[in-house]
Amino acid sequence: MPTPAADTAAPYGAAAAPAPRKAVNLARIADMHARGEKITMLTAYDATFAAVADAAGVDCLLVGDSVGMVCQGLDSTVGVSLDVMRHYTESVARGLRRVQGAAWLIADLPFGSYQESREQALRSATALMQAGAQMVKLEGGGWTVDTVRFITERGIPVCAHLGLTPQTVHALGGYRVQGRDEASAARLCQDARALQDAGAAMLVLEMVPARLARAVTAELARCATIGIGAGSGTAGQVLVLHDMLGIHLGKPAKFVRNFMAGADGIEAGLRSFVHAVKDGSFPEDGVHAW
Ligand code: KIV
Repeated sequence: MPTPAADTAAPYGAAAAPAPRKAVNLARIADMHARGEKITMLTAYDATFAAVADAAGVDCLLVGDSVGMVCQGLDSTVGVSLDVMRHYTESVARGLRRVQGAAWLIADLPFGSYQESREQALRSATALMQAGAQMVKLEGGGWTVDTVRFITERGIPVCAHLGLTPQTVHALGGYRVQGRDEASAARLCQDARALQDAGAAMLVLEMVPARLARAVTAELARCATIGIGAGSGTAGQVLVLHDMLGIHLGKPAKFVRNFMAGADGIEAGLRSFVHAVKDGSFPEDGVHAW
């Protein structure tokens, strides 16, 4: 194990960013969205990877409840608890603080921590904000609108999540593309508009047809869409860190690209993700979308 560096020193070499960048905040996200600059997001679960992703210029880090599958070996995100999310959020936040990182930090509200009532959701969101998150993400459509309004009105930025919502994998019957038929596509559009009106500043669209994601993106001026398996027409892109590093417990999803191919180290792989999203070369519709 390396010796922990003093607080003032950049730990572990790779995290020594040459020039500090401006902190990403809600205003900068809105500005990128308005200017059409693609927003980059990766999941992070620990301090060191958080620091390296920040040094690579990733705009947003998501402490996803995918931590359950990636780090805890669970077979879905359903078993992830609020305590687990708090633990990993604190680790990522510390990593960013150690390098005076600029990335915007989002944490997932896990299954069972917000479904009961909007008050329960506020308590859970508060716990993650106190662990260091700057925004919370929650999954679901119309039934979450009141909760999103309640939380945002109390000063907690919210990222919504539509399409494939992994916490409801059992109700959905598997990890399948959502919004393929006209009725479900129309419902998704309606939910997206309602979530924007309720105050959601970002919206993850997971595994929906590229055409639908593009249409939803065009409708939302105040809410930046972040796609995963949703084609190239969203305001930004997110991937699970381990997926884009080419390390998996199972078979990678079709939309994943291994950014370590040809990269000279992990930070270079992360930089190549940032460049590919910013210049629009990832994802490629027809290759990484439906
Ligand atoms: O938990 C997670 O990693 C996520 C992303 C896949 C968007 O929600």
